[in-house]
Amino acid sequence: MSDESIQEYLETNSERFLEELFQYLRIPSVSTDPAHQDDVKGCALWLADHLRSIGLDRVEIEETEGHPIVYAEHCNAPGAPTFLIYGHYDVQPPDPLDEWVSPPFEPTVRDGKIFARGATDDKGQLFAHVKALEAHLAVNGELPVNVKLLIEGEEEVGSPSLEPWVHAEKERLACDAVVISDSSMYAPGLPAITYSLRGLAYFEVTVRGPSHDLHSGLYGGGVPNPINILAEMLASLHDAQGRVSIPGFYDHVRPLGEAERAELAKLPFDEQAFMEEAGIAALEGEEGYTTLERTWERPTLDCNGIVGGFTGEGAKTVIPAKASAKFSCRLVPDQSPDEIEELVIGHLQTIAPDSVEIEIQRHHGGWPVHTDRDNPAVQAAMRALEKSWDAKPVFIGGGGSIPVVATFANVLEAPTVLMGLGLDDDRLHSPNEKFDLENFHAGIRTSAYLWDELV
Ligand code: BES
Ligand code: MN
Ligand code: MN
Repeated sequence: MSDESIQEYLETNSERFLEELFQYLRIPSVSTDPAHQDDVKGCALWLADHLRSIGLDRVEIEETEGHPIVYAEHCNAPGAPTFLIYGHYDVQPPDPLDEWVSPPFEPTVRDGKIFARGATDDKGQLFAHVKALEAHLAVNGELPVNVKLLIEGEEEVGSPSLEPWVHAEKERLACDAVVISDSSMYAPGLPAITYSLRGLAYFEVTVRGPSHDLHSGLYGGGVPNPINILAEMLASLHDAQGRVSIPGFYDHVRPLGEAERAELAKLPFDEQAFMEEAGIAALEGEEGYTTLERTWERPTLDCNGIVGGFTGEGAKTVIPAKASAKFSCRLVPDQSPDEIEELVIGHLQTIAPDSVEIEIQRHHGGWPVHTDRDNPAVQAAMRALEKSWDAKPVFIGGGGSIPVVATFANVLEAPTVLMGLGLDDDRLHSPNEKFDLENFHAGIRTSAYLWDELV
């Protein structure tokens, strides 16, 4: 092991690393959009080629019913432990396009930040690991540990193909721990291990009233209006204390322990900065909980989209035949997505008035997870983070979801290390997504240290 020569290699090659990341970011691998199917595939091919080019032993493209999985193995360290690095090469749609300062698929550096769709979520974070592996292979000819890489193209659409694949390939994926960089540090310069991810249950509800749109003067006041009814139904899903008012919703929520609350309260939290970044005038949420508790430890129900009636220019006096909404719940241990789906659907059917028909569709879901903070791989990641950032890492919750993490825990029976390299203000899923150059380079260093710390 030669720390210094690895550092030297990273410094000498840092410009090239950035150029390569740019190539990766230029591929519009938007998994949800059928128009980008070939781009998603092209991205998998690019990534597989790249993994081969750094000298990984076995690199394969695994076809699925959806987008391909990129899988690689480099297991030449007999007696050393084996780690599975997971990431995703698909990205969210870039819309709304006109809000981007530079085009989403033309990566651009401004103020020390790389702007592009996927910069932080998750191309940049995953690529940091790839470059660290390259450095070890180039400098030492080998890796200190055994490594498997699993990079999917469907994370942003709920991992429908990966879930069954992990079950089927359980033996091949056997490992001592899973390492994932697809979340955030706590703050600039303050690294963190993410100890939790929320689960997800996603719905679409359609309310149908009249058989066709009606003149609101001739019929208004005498017929059910699907938009009014949908709005009332959605509004009734929270009570005045900001709690979800669906009976049974909190039944399996693990209460927050005093020690846990005290731990969270110790983290420096700048309310003003949080409000400014989100562009909000006041905080809101469930009564009796702090913002960190609300976003990390408590379940939610949020409307994500709503359509109905006349939405064009000008005014049209009409009572629409239908209205629909997409909404989702973030879940925490020990809520089950299946149980929450049943509760939510049953409740909507109960509260819908007889004057309308309602139809409810389930979209993807995922289980919440809490990871084990004491396992040796987490401790090794803490040491690697501390070394590269020169700051003691903290434990933070992750409000987002990575559905396959629960599957890893159940099927592979291995602990997961969530070593986020991004920042919460990276604008993931939003216009002007970015990844700080500093985070990219420190991320590569962290990953390079990690493999040595894990031996
Ligand atoms: N990387 C995110 C999840 C994330 C971000 C976790 C920051 C913790 C901190 C992931 O790509 C994502 O966006 N997941 C989706 C779920 C998916 C099923 C669409 C999410 O959380 O909405
Ligand atoms: Mn992600
Ligand atoms: Mn995402």
